[in-house]
Amino acid sequence: MDGPDAPGPLTLDCHHYDAFRCRSCSLLEVPRTRQLSDKEQRARSLVPSPVWLPTVAGPEAGFRNKAKMVVGGTVDAPTLGILDRDLVGIDLRDCGLHSPGLTAALGRIADWISGAGLAPYDVGTRSGELKHVLLTESPDGELMLRLVMRSTALEARVRSRLPALMEVLPTLRVVTINVQPDHKAVLEGAREIVLTEVATLPMRLATGVTLRLGPKSFFQTNTFVAEALYDQARSWVADLDVHSIWDLYCGVGGFALHLIGSGREVLGVEVSADAVTAARATAAELVADAQFVAADATAYVVSAGVVPDLVVVNPPRRGIGADLAGWLEGSGVEHVVYSSCNAESLARDLALMPSLQPVEARLLDMFPHTTHFEVIVLLAR
Ligand SMILES: C[S@@+](CC[C@H](N)C(=O)[O-])C[C@H]1O[C@@H](n2cnc3c(N)ncnc32)[C@H](O)[C@@H]1O
Repeated sequence: MDGPDAPGPLTLDCHHYDAFRCRSCSLLEVPRTRQLSDKEQRARSLVPSPVWLPTVAGPEAGFRNKAKMVVGGTVDAPTLGILDRDLVGIDLRDCGLHSPGLTAALGRIADWISGAGLAPYDVGTRSGELKHVLLTESPDGELMLRLVMRSTALEARVRSRLPALMEVLPTLRVVTINVQPDHKAVLEGAREIVLTEVATLPMRLATGVTLRLGPKSFFQTNTFVAEALYDQARSWVADLDVHSIWDLYCGVGGFALHLIGSGREVLGVEVSADAVTAARATAAELVADAQFVAADATAYVVSAGVVPDLVVVNPPRRGIGADLAGWLEGSGVEHVVYSSCNAESLARDLALMPSLQPVEARLLDMFPHTTHFEVIVLLAR
């Protein structure tokens, strides 16, 4: 990479940031080259890898495949974005991080919300129904729309207005209502009502693998970087003599389904049943030797009674924790691929596994304009 002071592309131009309406991109005033070199320095200070492969930067705008919008305003003029300190809606439907397909669709969805008379939920008065609009775009330009609502009071109205929405958004493949009755700042509730015939969105990646995404499954938000991430794991594993692989915290099977190969058994473990169903369907379609189990990752491994040749872990921000790190340390497993979105918890976990040492590592800028980033590291005993 170029040095931190080399002239680089300008950071994203954002009128919401300039007007102090949204300051989520905390590094927007830092040139991208400098953002990247600072992240590299931070990663290297936390992860003692002898080799760092070139950073995967990815695009600096239009990279998000998912929009998570709080609905505010009124039926006639809904806002899709965030709420300000006074709980007033700020419209961010032209956020520059979203893919162009998401931006175009959000405008049509806002118009449809007005036409269908879906009253935005008002946090102050606890009135109204529509809380959030969660929209995902696949690499093929297809969409999954989840309407997070306080109750099912407007379900019949949403159903009756669905054809009108499909007409203006013909790429809509999955539409659901997620019911979130609690007066709490949580994104979604437990109940999901699928309104369309299909319940999963095919995510056709440039790696040659098409994953399926269910409404309640996690998916990496930056498709370009996700592809590089899975490719990196695939290329490390290709150079190793491994026959059995566990993918812990596997989501819809991103790592597992990139690591299948002849003579190789792959097993994914994931707590979300929805994600496991999607992963199993992809494996069946690929006729792959891959099994998926809905379980807590640590509980599964400690009671499995066997040890694979290689373990992939890709936990949430909290990391894998002392119990799983302790099990990996004592298990005798030869290789671990650890993909982390939080280098601090990664460093804590690595310190608990001194027998597994970093061989190669790579930083991937999954979250441009923020201090966050992904690190993937190959560990060997
Ligand atoms: C960062 S995501 C990674 C998903 C997947 N590896 C991918 O590439 O899309 C973390 C995943 O861990 C799952 N998870 C959270 N806690 C878990 C646990 N205790 N046991 C197993 N999976 C868990 C989440 O549901 C989520 O799918």
